[in-house]
Amino acid sequence: MPLRSYPTAPDGLPAIDAIARIAAAAIEFCELINAGQSCKVSRGFAALPPTGEGAATRVAIAVKRFYDEAGEEAEQQAELGAEQRAEQGSPPSPQLSNAGRRFHSEAELLATCTHPNVVRCLGMATCEGQRCLLFPLAERGNLWDVLHDERAALPWERRLRFSIDVARAVAHLHSLPTPVAHSDLKSKNILVAADWSVSVGDLGDAQRARGEVDSVAIAGTPEWMAPELLEHINFGRYAIPWVAPEQGGLDLLPCDVFSLGTVLWEVATRQVPYDGMRRRQVVEQVVNHYKQPGEMPGEDTALEALLGDCWQREPAARPSAAQVLLRLEALLDEHFRLVSIGLGS
Ligand SMILES: Nc1ncnc2c1ncn2[C@@H]1O[C@H](COP(=O)(O)OP(=O)(O)OP(=O)(O)O)[C@@H](O)[C@H]1O
Ligand SMILES: [Mg+2]
Repeated sequence: MPLRSYPTAPDGLPAIDAIARIAAAAIEFCELINAGQSCKVSRGFAALPPTGEGAATRVAIAVKRFYDEAGEEAEQQAELGAEQRAEQGSPPSPQLSNAGRRFHSEAELLATCTHPNVVRCLGMATCEGQRCLLFPLAERGNLWDVLHDERAALPWERRLRFSIDVARAVAHLHSLPTPVAHSDLKSKNILVAADWSVSVGDLGDAQRARGEVDSVAIAGTPEWMAPELLEHINFGRYAIPWVAPEQGGLDLLPCDVFSLGTVLWEVATRQVPYDGMRRRQVVEQVVNHYKQPGEMPGEDTALEALLGDCWQREPAARPSAAQVLLRLEALLDEHFRLVSIGLGS
């Protein structure tokens, strides 16, 4: 099933049936959680339409608002244009602002990638001219903050379960009929719910890894990126023409597995990858010297072997996300065996 390009309705939102359209009046904004380069995430509440009989339900949400890096003027112009066209009854233009394109891409992928460990989209809306995506609030915030909170007791079993949840999500994305690469796996893009379950969020850079693809975006965060991607950054490339992996093209799925390895390392060590190094240095060290993010967790040789395999320089030598998942599940079984004979904690 190839991903479709959804037409834009006059309100600037894509016509995606799987994602509910929520009226701005039904959304209550509370404090800002994160101001990224092109999106702002706030905590809030939404009155969601009932699924069957009955009243709307008020749920705690995170609202992601999209805006253009070059300022909101361009976005407002685009909105104005859309409104005028709507008033004049002319069809919506395929021309979207940057924020519009990013919004459509993320919404389209969210509609396609439904899984318990992939963030669920509750709806989309336009609030004060800005397109918004609504998600259930992950009460414990992102995984980076959880791992670096010294007060958070995170027993090994809980951390192994974090890793398993993340691997499940990635294995799901990679197993879709049109496989999707997340392209920015890192602990800040992983969300932790009140019950400690984990979901992979921020599909803003996600892209099709196979199928009807024209170009590959060189996306991600350097500390988590595979060397074959960082090489492109070195050459100042942000996108390259798509070539099938079988014909030597860049394969985004093993790139995700490399980043997944770094997430597993973060979870195991609770350390910062390439701590103290500047981004430029990280790129240079990974590309030229194949430097790893830090000390290995020690003690667990099976986990070390798994990390080493995810970080293989040769992309084809890395395990698939499904194989990573199986190996993590085996680690959890082994943990239970050790606990049962009094050797685990
Ligand atoms: N559903 C959620 N519940 C709680 N917090 C969330 C939720 N979604 C996002 N956040 C918070 O907002 C941050 C940014 O979210 P996200 O990565 O989706 O946006 P972004 O604009 O891509 O940010 P950045 O540009 O910084 O990557 C997350 O790291 C997390 O702290
Ligand atoms: Mg993000």
